[in-house]
Formats: sequence, structure tokens, C-alpha cells
Amino acid sequence: MSTHATAATRPPSLEQAGYLVSIDQVDASSGAAIFALADEMARNLYEPATRQLMADCVVALLFFEPSSRTILSFSAAAARLGAGVISHQAAETSSLAKGESIEDTVRVVGSYADVIVMRHNEEGSAARAAEACPVPLINGGDGGNEHPTQALIDLYTIRNRLGRLDGLRVGMGFDPRHSRAIRSLCRGLARHPGNEVTLVGPRQLWMAEDDVQDLRGRGLTVAQSEDVEALLHQDVAYVNRFQRERIAALPDGDALGRLYRLSAGNVRSSGLQLILDPLPRTHEIDQDVDGLPQAGYFEQVRNGVPIRMALLSMLGRRDTTTTDS
Ligand code: NCD
Repeated sequence: MSTHATAATRPPSLEQAGYLVSIDQVDASSGAAIFALADEMARNLYEPATRQLMADCVVALLFFEPSSRTILSFSAAAARLGAGVISHQAAETSSLAKGESIEDTVRVVGSYADVIVMRHNEEGSAARAAEACPVPLINGGDGGNEHPTQALIDLYTIRNRLGRLDGLRVGMGFDPRHSRAIRSLCRGLARHPGNEVTLVGPRQLWMAEDDVQDLRGRGLTVAQSEDVEALLHQDVAYVNRFQRERIAALPDGDALGRLYRLSAGNVRSSGLQLILDPLPRTHEIDQDVDGLPQAGYFEQVRNGVPIRMALLSMLGRRDTTTTDS
């Protein structure tokens, strides 16, 4: 039985909850509002007024799993908004190592900061933390479960490049089973009509059947294939590395890595309009793809800052209208 939240247990909307743990909290209209704010942030990145937006705020970054893009782009987003940043980057050097619970950790950090971004290897940890946290919490990835801010960056990049988020054929590989980025993006795409997803990878990395059924229940058309070719007949290819930190054993992993990859040769002869990758890249995209017009993964990286600025400013700014009586 899957431990992942299903369509039936959808959490409250971003606006109601005041935190972001799952892409399920963002429907098409609140997604559009986040994208409009991100557009504004990108346009006004160097305006002095932008650096005042969170000038009285502290952003806490708690990253108990490895990260480069997510932690640094949140850090850059906070800097662009004028906020101070405090951070913890390893479970071993925080009080989690002394046996402190995630709940107590965020209770403590929430008394220092106005908003917390947390990454933790336990599925469901973000939802637990958000409930206990005295300030808004943003999920920067909870194990193999969800990565909602990445999904917003992915949807924003698709919208910017292709002009729409509906009626798309999206191929996703090569580790749909263990990828929080793929799970969150599938759920996000399910919020828009007419999207079809083809999951591609070695059979042992196929998405679990109950997760596929859950996505179908949300209105997404889902197929799975072992054939890399299946990825080439789509509008968008969203590829990732094998998530080895979550795979018990991957016999012939290196040989599979050579098979499951995009090269300039197969991209040129494909119908693909856009190639995305949450990164880091290992085996899944040859370097010679980088110069092709379809390559969108470094643009996707750049979009991380305005999207995260939008989220920090929506959730983390202190409400100046409330006064203690
Ligand atoms: C992804 C993640 O951590 O889930 N990276 C990221 O945040 N951009 C994907 C990955 O690690 O493969």
C-alpha cells in the first residue's frame, strides 16, 4: 500500500493552510497567481523596492538531505527580497542527531525565523512539521514523496516555453518510481485538462501501480514503457537520474544508465519541443543536447529564483496589519 497522500486525502489549499507541503495545495488558479508574482519578481529583480519586500524577515533553511539548487536558489531568493537567512544543512550537526523530533526542531526554529524551508528524507515529514510549526513551512523535498516548489518551477517553465499547461503529451523518465519531482509534476499536470503522461524507465523503476491508479483517478492519462523511444514522441521530455539513494539495488545500473539517456542524435530526430531535468544530471542527458533549442533545463534552473521569491513573499512576509492588543 502506498504511503503517499492520495486524491482522496488532498490537503487544504495554499491560501487556507499558509504552508506548502504538496503541489495538491495549488490548483490552476493559485498556480496562475504564483506565476504572475514570479513574472513580477523576475521583472523587478534589481529594483531597490524588491530588496525591501522581506527586509524585516528571517528565512530558515533546514536541509537534512543533500541539496544544491533548492537550498541555493531559496537562499538567493531570500537575498533578493532583502531577508536574512539562517540555515542548518546536515542532520548530523543539528539536534536531530541528539534525538530531537522534527516537530520540536521546527517549533524551535520557528521562534527564530518568519518562514522555514525544510528538506528531510522521511516521506510525510513536511506535513508533520507544518502542523507543528508556528510559522509557514515550505517543503523542499520529503524523501520520495513530494517536491512542490520544483513542480511549480517545472510548470512555469513549460508555460513560458509552450504557452499552455493543458493538452500536453509529457514523457517522464528515467526513475519514475523514486522521484519526488516526477510525482509532484504529475499531480500538478493533473490539475489541467487533457494532459497525457508516459513514464519511461527500466521495469523495476516503474511507478508503483497504486500511484499510477491514483494519478488516473485525478484525471491524468498515464502509460508506462521500457522503451526510450516512447519519450521521443512527446511534446515535452522530463528526465531525471536514477535516484540511487532510494534504490536498494540496481543490478547493471551503469549499463542501464548508458541505455536510458537522451543524445543529440535521438533528440534531433524526435518531435520534442522541450527537454527538462530537475538536475543534478548524471547519465540521463548527453552534454551535446545542451546546445539544442529544445534544451530547457538551465532556463528551468534560472526560474527557480523568481518562483521561490514569489513563494517566500506570499507565505513568509509578516502580516503588518496585525497588532498585538
Ligand atoms: C531533485 C531532488 O532533489 O529531488 N533535485 C532538485 O531539487 N532540483 C532531483 C534529483 O535529486 O534527482
